[in-house]
Amino acid sequence: MANILCVYYSRTGQTEALMQEIAQELGGCEMVKLSDGIDRSGIFGWLRSGMDAMARHIPPVEKPETNLPLADYDLVIIGSPVWAGRCSSPVRSFLLQFGEELQEAAYVITRGSDVRYEEVFTQMDLYVKRPHTKALTIHPGTVGVDFWKDEFLKAVRSSEKKEEQHDAG
Ligand SMILES: Cc1cc2nc3c(=O)[nH]c(=O)nc-3n(C[C@H](O)[C@H](O)[C@H](O)COP(=O)(O)O)c2cc1C
Repeated sequence: MANILCVYYSRTGQTEALMQEIAQELGGCEMVKLSDGIDRSGIFGWLRSGMDAMARHIPPVEKPETNLPLADYDLVIIGSPVWAGRCSSPVRSFLLQFGEELQEAAYVITRGSDVRYEEVFTQMDLYVKRPHTKALTIHPGTVGVDFWKDEFLKAVRSSEKKEEQHDAG
């Protein structure tokens, strides 16, 4: 079994719910929620988050407490809401501080519109050693969410299998 870590930020719970489903489907893999210590609740929190995203402001996040060093995970799945067409500031901050430590990254974004925001994945790749291998973009509560989530999970499981075969051979 590959070591998989799910790391995410969620302001209002949509990304958290999706990441919980993904972690469960992957056999209950480890999850950690990022915090930058900033109160982002309510309308002021919404405004602050939008301004942070547009200014590419990077408030530091604490290194998440994980069972293994970040470099020891075969795959780190990083979840973020879309903020002003970008990834959320806490996730950008995590990637900037620790992205170089990750062996392999996959991205999950949630959004509030029908725009897929695939360019966000390219932005996130700026902070990691190797470009992402898998990605999922979801507008929670809309038709097709389960289909795209299953496609993402299939891709994760199939690379797990390939790695197992490689290790066995
Ligand atoms: C400051 C801010 C900016 C946002 N900008 C966008 C956007 O550009 N495009 C979009 O589709 N949704 C946008 N949204 C909506 C969120 O991406 C969406 O509701 C997401 O699922 C929320 O995830 P969360 O509950 O995990 O925080 C924005 C939300 C916030 C708070």
